[in-house]
Amino acid sequence: MRIFLGVTGASGALYGGRALAALTDAGHHVGLCVSDAGARVISHEVLGEGPRPADYHDVAERFAAMFARPAGAVDLLSADDIASSFASGSAGARQALVAPCSTSTLGHIAHGTGGNLIHRVAEVMLKERGGLIIIPRETPVSLIQLRNMVAVTEAGGVVLPASPGLYTLPATVEDMVDFVVGKALDLMGVEHALFPRWGQPDVPAGTLGDHP
Ligand SMILES: Cc1cc2nc3c(=O)[nH]c(=O)nc-3n(C[C@H](O)[C@H](O)[C@H](O)COP(=O)(O)O)c2cc1C
Repeated sequence: MRIFLGVTGASGALYGGRALAALTDAGHHVGLCVSDAGARVISHEVLGEGPRPADYHDVAERFAAMFARPAGAVDLLSADDIASSFASGSAGARQALVAPCSTSTLGHIAHGTGGNLIHRVAEVMLKERGGLIIIPRETPVSLIQLRNMVAVTEAGGVVLPASPGLYTLPATVEDMVDFVVGKALDLMGVEHALFPRWGQPDVPAGTLGDHP
């Protein structure tokens, strides 16, 4: 399956990275598009090089190389390339994930505005009745942001907040990220083992209370 993955400038670039790893691990071909602000956050949070990279494309390339398995399973798409095949409903891609999704991109998707490839692909998914999942990361949220989430939901998208459950007893940041990514993959019908399923024997016994 060809899947579009948009990575925008909300905190939580790792959500996009782990989604890229899990989708390519599962044998899917991913069209990856990183917004300029997304590249800033990747540079800061993932590469440890601060939020003002000299070259956004270079950041996106290194991010793709870091997470895609194998590297050939990802096409890096430029955010201003609205001629990409993903930008047209006739090209047949049926699934898009925006992870993380900034409140700015949320607003554009909710209102059908904006001009970059991520906004356009989201618009195409909604009009074609394909799958659109967005993982917003912001707190607290304003009434405007809540209304935008309602609008996306009413239009057929799924708003999947970056809010990891703790009942799987995550031990690492990656475990917490994988919980959220795994919920998105469940909705997309992509098999994964990103978190232990409740009620199954691999759920560990409680340990979170041991922490000070
Ligand atoms: C380090 C950093 C962290 C940010 N975190 C968030 C965030 O958690 N949520 C959010 O909505 N915007 C966040 N922003 C602001 C967005 O990057 C900004 O609104 C940007 O215009 C979004 O553009 P995009 O949607 O095209 O990626 C952050 C910016 C930076 C530099």
